[in-house]
Amino acid sequence: MTTMEKLHAHHEKLIGTIRELVERTKADPAEASLLVSYCGEFLLAHAEAEESTLYNADANAEFVDKMVREHREIKELLESIGNALGTGGASLIISESARFMELLNAHFLEEENILMPRLSNKMSEGEMENLITEAHRVEGEKKRSDIWSLFELDHKRIDLNMSRMRMPGVHLDAARHYYSRMRGQLLKHIELEETVLFPAFEEHANPGQMGPVQVMISEHREIVSIISPSLEDIDEESLRSRTDLLIGKLAVHNKKEELILYPMINRTLQASHRARVFKESFDGLAAA
Ligand SMILES: [Fe+2]
Ligand SMILES: [Fe+2]
Ligand SMILES: [Fe+2]
Ligand SMILES: [Fe+2]
Repeated sequence: MTTMEKLHAHHEKLIGTIRELVERTKADPAEASLLVSYCGEFLLAHAEAEESTLYNADANAEFVDKMVREHREIKELLESIGNALGTGGASLIISESARFMELLNAHFLEEENILMPRLSNKMSEGEMENLITEAHRVEGEKKRSDIWSLFELDHKRIDLNMSRMRMPGVHLDAARHYYSRMRGQLLKHIELEETVLFPAFEEHANPGQMGPVQVMISEHREIVSIISPSLEDIDEESLRSRTDLLIGKLAVHNKKEELILYPMINRTLQASHRARVFKESFDGLAAA
């Protein structure tokens, strides 16, 4: 494979997943949590690595400025999608995701059709090879593997589905649909915390740090008991009372995780370990 083909293949892999996540977001804006998490981990690291390698090697300052500006715009759009998720702004999420996808498509094309040919005209294939290897190395190094943000965004996905169940005038069928989505996501979220996240933390935590984990696990048992009945076994009255109970419990539980536990886990795990935990957790959340 030539270096140009390598960059193309790398772009295709990134953009293929991102395109799927944008489609998922269009169909259900609550799924923007996955789009923002995935891009925060893989796309932003890619962009930062390019700036210090490929862009740095290009002599056309005006072009490089424009591409760096686009990186900033991509980052800002992701932040704005993440914020809209927190406030339940479904139509904003959809329009911003469409803009994001358009910008990213155009941006990747310029890298492949303008930047790469220009670089390979002035550099030998060996030099290009080294540059791409260096880009990949930096990309790995720049991954944030932000566990805190990943799980906090998933709280928002669950919150949005709960708030949809309580929208004034919501049809019973719709409320049941959102209950079933929310239930599956919440059970998966708790399962990943208990089987992936907390055990990873336990390996490196000192005994005093495990107290908060024990509290979270016992709260999980209460939460799971509230949503234990599946959709078939639940009537309208029980659906509403369980949702009200759950909203109160989750508000307190999630705050504790977001303010204490997740930041502590981010600080405690080494970067490479955090990257593995991030990937495994992301794949699990995306399957729910
Ligand atoms: Fe780029
Ligand atoms: Fe790129
Ligand atoms: Fe939890
Ligand atoms: Fe959580």
